[in-house]
Amino acid sequence: MNVVHTINEVRSHVRAAHKSGKRVGLVPTMGALHPGHMSLVTAARKSADDNPHGGFVAVSIFINPTQFAPGEDLDTYPKTLDDDLKLCEAAGVDLVFAPGVEKMYPREIAADTTVTVSNLPDTLCGKSRPGHFAGVCTVVAKLFNIVQPDEAFFGAKDFQQAAIIRQMVADLNLPVDIIICPIIREADGLAMSSRNVRLTAEDRKQAPAMHAGLALGAAIINDSHTPAAEVIDAIEKHLRENAPAGKIDYIQIVDPKSLQDVAATDKSVLIAMAVKFGDVRLIDNILIGE
Ligand code: PAJ
Repeated sequence: MNVVHTINEVRSHVRAAHKSGKRVGLVPTMGALHPGHMSLVTAARKSADDNPHGGFVAVSIFINPTQFAPGEDLDTYPKTLDDDLKLCEAAGVDLVFAPGVEKMYPREIAADTTVTVSNLPDTLCGKSRPGHFAGVCTVVAKLFNIVQPDEAFFGAKDFQQAAIIRQMVADLNLPVDIIICPIIREADGLAMSSRNVRLTAEDRKQAPAMHAGLALGAAIINDSHTPAAEVIDAIEKHLRENAPAGKIDYIQIVDPKSLQDVAATDKSVLIAMAVKFGDVRLIDNILIGE
């Protein structure tokens, strides 16, 4: 496994891989890798190995400052590069790209050019994190241009992020297949996240109520297609009772394509939520009927 920090090094490794006919897969991450991230790496490795000419798996590790608003957790975001590299090595990763901020944004702050997708970022997480998805799209577009992967892997945990990146790739005709992988959870249902280590012991005990609330909502919908507003009330009640420390940012039931709120639940819907425990903001979702 090669670990590189510059764009030129990435380009020369990837050029060699493409020259030998390999399919190049990219897993973009911010590090602090856990089994959720590694499931994307496993999917990338499998897809690479299924290619008749073999494949080449690249993982990027970069805590992208432009997707954090002032006051968010950029400074406290966990950093575990040594462990991350061991996990990547064990998972058969070919290349890790771990650039410093000055490599990605050489002119001090953000790039002057940003990539913004319209509409999809106006709801769910985008409402409480203005500018977040422009930061995500800009860095992902840069990573796609640096690595030039044939395919890139994203997790359904960040459902809105994945939907926005798909839209960006379609609208800008980027030659990258976007593969979305399922949410990986702890045994008690909590969606794995790099931020979970920052929960207090008590908050960690309460946080699985998020997934339990989503499962409850899904059961109600599957059972009786109850109107969305009533399902949201039931989930909210579940959270108030089982995770009193959690401050609900949003619970929404949306169309999985447009991400717009729906009133009826007789078609495929996504229930998504964000809950803050102290300054740790967690998200989770469940897709129903697809
Ligand atoms: P990060 O939060 O490190 O996540 C990297 C990828 O891992 C994302 O596609 C995310 O959806 C996926 N992931 C995280 N937890 C997961 C889980 N429990 N199950 C399945 N997949 C999971 O998302 C980002 O970084 C950044 O926004 C990035 C795309 C790298 C751009 O900076």
